[in-house]
Amino acid sequence: MIKRSILSVLLIAFTFVVNAEIISIQTESTSLVYTVKNKKVYQLHYGKKMNSEKGLDQMPVCLDEVYPSFGNGKSNEVALIAKHDDGTMATDLYYVSHELVKEDNKTTTTIHLKDEKKPFFVDIHIVAYFREDVIEQWVSIHHNEKSAVRLDQYASSVIGSKAPDYYLSHFYGSWAKEMNVLEEPLVNGVKCIESQRGVRATEFENPSFILSLNQKASEDFGEVIMGALAWTGNFKLSFQVNDQGNCQIYSGINPFVSNYNLASGKELVTPRMILTFSDSGKNTASINLHRWARKYNLRNGNQARPVVMNSWEGAYFNFNDQKIKSMMDGAAEMGVELFVLDDGWFGNKYPRNNDKMGLGDWQINEKKLPKGLGDLIDYAEKLGMKFGIWVEPEMVNPDSELAKKHPEWILQRGNDREFLLERNQYLLDLSNPKVQDFVFGIVDNLLTQNPRIAYIKWDCNSYLQNFGSVYLNKTDQSHLWVDYTKGLESVLQKLTQKYPKIAFQACASGGGRVDYGVLKYSDEFWASDDTDPYQRLFIQWGTNYIYPAIGTAAHVTKSPNDQTKRATPLKFRFDIALGGRLGLELLPSDLKSDEVSFIKSGIKLYKEIRSVIQQGDLYRLQSPYDRDGYAAINYVTQAKDSAVLMVYSLEWHRKFDKSLVRMKGLNEKYTYKVTEVNKQTGKTSISQDGQLISGAALMNIGLSVNIKQPLSSSVFVIEKCSE
Ligand code: DGJ
Repeated sequence: MIKRSILSVLLIAFTFVVNAEIISIQTESTSLVYTVKNKKVYQLHYGKKMNSEKGLDQMPVCLDEVYPSFGNGKSNEVALIAKHDDGTMATDLYYVSHELVKEDNKTTTTIHLKDEKKPFFVDIHIVAYFREDVIEQWVSIHHNEKSAVRLDQYASSVIGSKAPDYYLSHFYGSWAKEMNVLEEPLVNGVKCIESQRGVRATEFENPSFILSLNQKASEDFGEVIMGALAWTGNFKLSFQVNDQGNCQIYSGINPFVSNYNLASGKELVTPRMILTFSDSGKNTASINLHRWARKYNLRNGNQARPVVMNSWEGAYFNFNDQKIKSMMDGAAEMGVELFVLDDGWFGNKYPRNNDKMGLGDWQINEKKLPKGLGDLIDYAEKLGMKFGIWVEPEMVNPDSELAKKHPEWILQRGNDREFLLERNQYLLDLSNPKVQDFVFGIVDNLLTQNPRIAYIKWDCNSYLQNFGSVYLNKTDQSHLWVDYTKGLESVLQKLTQKYPKIAFQACASGGGRVDYGVLKYSDEFWASDDTDPYQRLFIQWGTNYIYPAIGTAAHVTKSPNDQTKRATPLKFRFDIALGGRLGLELLPSDLKSDEVSFIKSGIKLYKEIRSVIQQGDLYRLQSPYDRDGYAAINYVTQAKDSAVLMVYSLEWHRKFDKSLVRMKGLNEKYTYKVTEVNKQTGKTSISQDGQLISGAALMNIGLSVNIKQPLSSSVFVIEKCSE
């Protein structure tokens, strides 16, 4: 500790001789500025870049302290509530020092605060990613009081803004209907977005938002703050608007039933809040987050993703090795690169033939797969595909050998209260290090016994309902939500470190785990169990505001769809899945030969254009939420030499209607060749097919795309020919 403060003093002296009262954090186009007044740290600004610090120390303080605490006289929302060792509840945090460390694109600023009276310390950490215009904020809390301090609230980040009006967009839903976009005006008072389910936390609300300042921002105009919390457990984002026109955003772990007893000398580190600001609308903010995520927060975010076939909607639990091999034959013929065996491959005493039993017993089901996994892996590899497998290691069915052997590993309410079931299963207690080792061991054994497994789909199909841990002390039961999530993170961290080349998918009954916490350890996520392409368009639309297309697993399934019973043309299903990480989830033997040929050429096309979709910038051109019944997006490489345009029709349109699509993100001066691809009928939907057109014309005049029927679509490849 002592060494650390000497270092801080030296660093401050070195960095901030000019103006010790201003702490200025800069990215290429944004600034986050704090001022130190009367030994307190206040936010002055977060938004457009300020290229001069002149006079900043003279500016009035309108926004809140960097980390408002309960008991310092304010009656607003607070970031911190602490009960100190003597039972007092007031905390008042004062500036001690700050330091700044620069490395290439990243600058880390740490602001050290201390309570006025108690040896209680909060460090604010802010990492600025210069080129991406993204900042991360989190805190670490420690103390040297005589006994434990109870933390009743411990947010990660507090960011304020001052504007006449605010509009908040957030993402809500439920199972198989995730990430609906809702934009609403923020008025005086507090609006919260939160989860209280412990795991599968993002199914009903996502820990992310877009805040438009002054007026409703569009994709291309207006000031917006976009944020996402990197935490895969209970979260709470509160937006407090007061009558002075201030909006303070408090983000972090949900304090709901989560009092945390922090022992003397121990540290609590909160999750990272990711923030970006754009003064040119929502699309720039999305691009900032996507670029940042691919580089810093999505595992292997710069590597091409393979085309996948997953066995689930094709076979469900009903398979044996012959059926899987025949699926593999069909998959390989169509050009699939990775075959994933989903649920149903394990359990013998309690065979996993439905969702009622077997979870926890991770031995190969000898009846279904008598020759073991090695035989299937060999088969896949002979066909030129890699092999992946499904697991749900946090869970256990009551009908399993594990549940009988280790009842103390199961979360439980105590006092012989009945166990609450969801999907016939219970959660294991990941706050317990022994259970963490067990869960780690499930995947570790699978991967050491089958070193050629290339992909793990990690599922999680239950909320945390039986609140109670046999492992935690009775005084620490309220640590469960937090310690469970930290336990999970630590298992995932160990596994992904040990197996850097093996891809992990985050899945939780579909989109129940779509957050930057889990994505640090995941190559992709399953956005939803709803694979109906019409609804999936909305789900992917919402998801891709915050999370990049490369991480969005999108599968073509059969028609009529199993969840909605809607019948849809194969081309529409395919063109929707093309917008993310393409996969198939159907029985190849159900397909007619013309369908196989269509998928085969579609997969070939995807392989040619995937670098644009997976690594390019995504521009939203026409929203499916608008009433004209069209939707359109385009992806553009950062060099602006290649683009892919996708246009969808959702309604019936009159005979003279066409979708006029103005592309975005191209270079005005370049000439591009426009080619319609993935055509099913040989007919083209634009008169300029195969023509050379300038970026200026494509962006300012646009293409008139002649699609009229609901559930029809067109895809175009736009290639630069000359400058
Ligand atoms: C829920 C997932 O979202 C599905 O894709 C599938 O893996 C099932 N679980 C298997 O039980």
